[in-house]
Amino acid sequence: MQEKYKIIGAPINRIDGRLKVTGKATYAAEFPVTNLAYGFPVQSTIAAGEIVWIDVSAAEKSAGVLKIITHENALKLAPRPAVTAANRMTRSNPVLQQTRIHYYGQYVGLVVAETYEQARAAARLVKVSYKTEKPKIDFDENAKRAYKPEVINAGYPTDTSWGNLENGLKQSAEIVAETYETPIENHHPMEPHATIAEFQGEKLTVYEATQMLAQTRDGIANTFNIPKENIRVLSPYIGGGFGSKLQPREHLMMTVMAAKMLNRPVKTAITRQMMQTNVGLRQLNRQKMRVGAGRDGKLMAFAHEILTHTSVDEEFVEQTGVMSRMMYAVPNSLVTHRVFTTHIQVPRWTRAPGETPGSFALESAMDELAYKLKLDPVEFRIKNEPAKNPENNKPWASRSVVECMKTGAEKFGWNRRKLEPRANKQGNWLVGYGMAAASRGAPYSGASARVKLTRSGDDVKAVVEMAATDIGTGSYTIIAQTAAESLGLPLDKISVEIGDSDLPPTPGSGGSWGAGNYSNAAYAACEKAKTELQAKIKVNFVKAPTVAELMTAGNLNEFETEATEKPSKESANYAHFSFGAHFVEVWVEESLGIVKIPRILTTVAAGRILNEKTARSQLLGGVVWGIGQAMTEETVLDKRYGSYVTRTFADYHVPVNLDVGEIEVYFLPEEDKIINRLGVKGVGELGITSVAAAITNAIFNATGKRIRTLPITPDKLL
Ligand code: MOS
Repeated sequence: MQEKYKIIGAPINRIDGRLKVTGKATYAAEFPVTNLAYGFPVQSTIAAGEIVWIDVSAAEKSAGVLKIITHENALKLAPRPAVTAANRMTRSNPVLQQTRIHYYGQYVGLVVAETYEQARAAARLVKVSYKTEKPKIDFDENAKRAYKPEVINAGYPTDTSWGNLENGLKQSAEIVAETYETPIENHHPMEPHATIAEFQGEKLTVYEATQMLAQTRDGIANTFNIPKENIRVLSPYIGGGFGSKLQPREHLMMTVMAAKMLNRPVKTAITRQMMQTNVGLRQLNRQKMRVGAGRDGKLMAFAHEILTHTSVDEEFVEQTGVMSRMMYAVPNSLVTHRVFTTHIQVPRWTRAPGETPGSFALESAMDELAYKLKLDPVEFRIKNEPAKNPENNKPWASRSVVECMKTGAEKFGWNRRKLEPRANKQGNWLVGYGMAAASRGAPYSGASARVKLTRSGDDVKAVVEMAATDIGTGSYTIIAQTAAESLGLPLDKISVEIGDSDLPPTPGSGGSWGAGNYSNAAYAACEKAKTELQAKIKVNFVKAPTVAELMTAGNLNEFETEATEKPSKESANYAHFSFGAHFVEVWVEESLGIVKIPRILTTVAAGRILNEKTARSQLLGGVVWGIGQAMTEETVLDKRYGSYVTRTFADYHVPVNLDVGEIEVYFLPEEDKIINRLGVKGVGELGITSVAAAITNAIFNATGKRIRTLPITPDKLL
């Protein structure tokens, strides 16, 4: 049995909650840097072509303007190397170096002025003449040029296969062969990206909304040829990231350049519209499924073939097939990714990259096949539960998806579901139940942390430091809880210092690896402090002493230590994933095409839950985005010009309170002894995974209509 804890796991309020609701948490754009100048980007108004000339004369005369930076006067930056999965976040990201336009809205200049309003007004006066080319935008037209990329995002293999697919299909009693499609979606964290850059001599300080401190620092270092030691990135509070803040962005590089050229601190806060056009997106995924099973409900054949787009400027291929490789036992499997270039901005990591669109195709096809076999969808999934990871035969460090489905079904009242659609009518509404199983990779790589103890009389306090970020997830709180547990100190005696690249390194917040890495590093540092203190003091205690007892016994006023926690060698031999299941009730009014989702019930097994309250909030957020993915979210481009039809929240619809019914989240107790010392897996991205499939499966159960192209706009139901 793993240790039981008192403070770890407790559903306590965020320790930074008060600061946030009183406006005292300082976000990147809010740092009180004196003598600030303000940057505002100039964006291209074409999607493909060449800048012929730029006329800044009117803008230069505009009130308050200090500098207008374009490719004509920009500092020369390090060229971009060949982009690989390994260097994507840290490689040089040069801006304003050339005349080529790759996408609509690309930054072609930065206007710097005394005030934000002056910079913004002058940016409109910059005249740019282009040699315009016909942009490659349309999916179908350009898909003919699809090719096989060498690898896909995060270094996953492009194609995997085992067995013989065609034989498997031949042997199947029932086959589902359908194509599923998810549109382009955008990240919209509450806090748009913002940067303040300030040079003091050779030293650069950057206040940046970033999920990744070290990567941001290294990206600047590589772009500007500045030694890493001279760069400090500060990001103590972040209003959401979802992947858009993983990589140092172009506005950041322009801002650093401006600060250098003007020798004055510069702030650039990008607009909500630029969040649509300049900070990455989730690409459209067209997914062809061929899934077959025997009459006994055992999968015989499984093919998931993905077609998607990247930018002419850089290849990025979402790992959309990863979940299909590990979720179910099947003797004959094929999962492939193909990509083609377009004049759409380069796609980027977007919450649960891979699993989010992939699970829509996978869990829809599973539901369709269960229906053809006249099997309950939960029962069908359980029949195909793999003993080991089918992709590589590694045993699961922990996998409780069957328990998630069984518990979820029971709590939801799944037994009231009718197998046949259109069997539950309430007035004008058709009622349906749907479910889907969820999974998300649980990466763990290890991190470092420092603990500083101080004593004054009987009062012992601790500060835990690491270069972690809290993107709204609760990192501050879970780090404090872990330290309080290990040190035996009350929670209010613990301070947490994060959001500073100078602190001990961590991988940052992304890919659901924050909680596991931060908590285990904090725990390691605190345990090490106790061990070192005990060795130093040489007093025998009757029972395990707290740090307060150790400090008092040794008459020490200060003590400090640092630890690096790494994954065990053994853990590499196991497969690491978090699991869950979603159960959805929908009401459909067919004459109007209206869908209501009165309740969603989600069960989760993700190892030790560090704080039930903040973890639950993560799941709620994920499920809400899943509702958005299913019902409303779609980025639409004008095929002729490559410009955006959806550029604000008036057109890009995210769910609002009225769209969201009751969401219940249940955490199943799960002990993972392999992944890390505290047995923590991630939950940040699990919540969104498979929600859209659970909703469309419920809509089928209500109406008999299969929606295979998201979002479910009313016209698709009429
Ligand atoms: Mo996540 S898309 O790795 O922030």
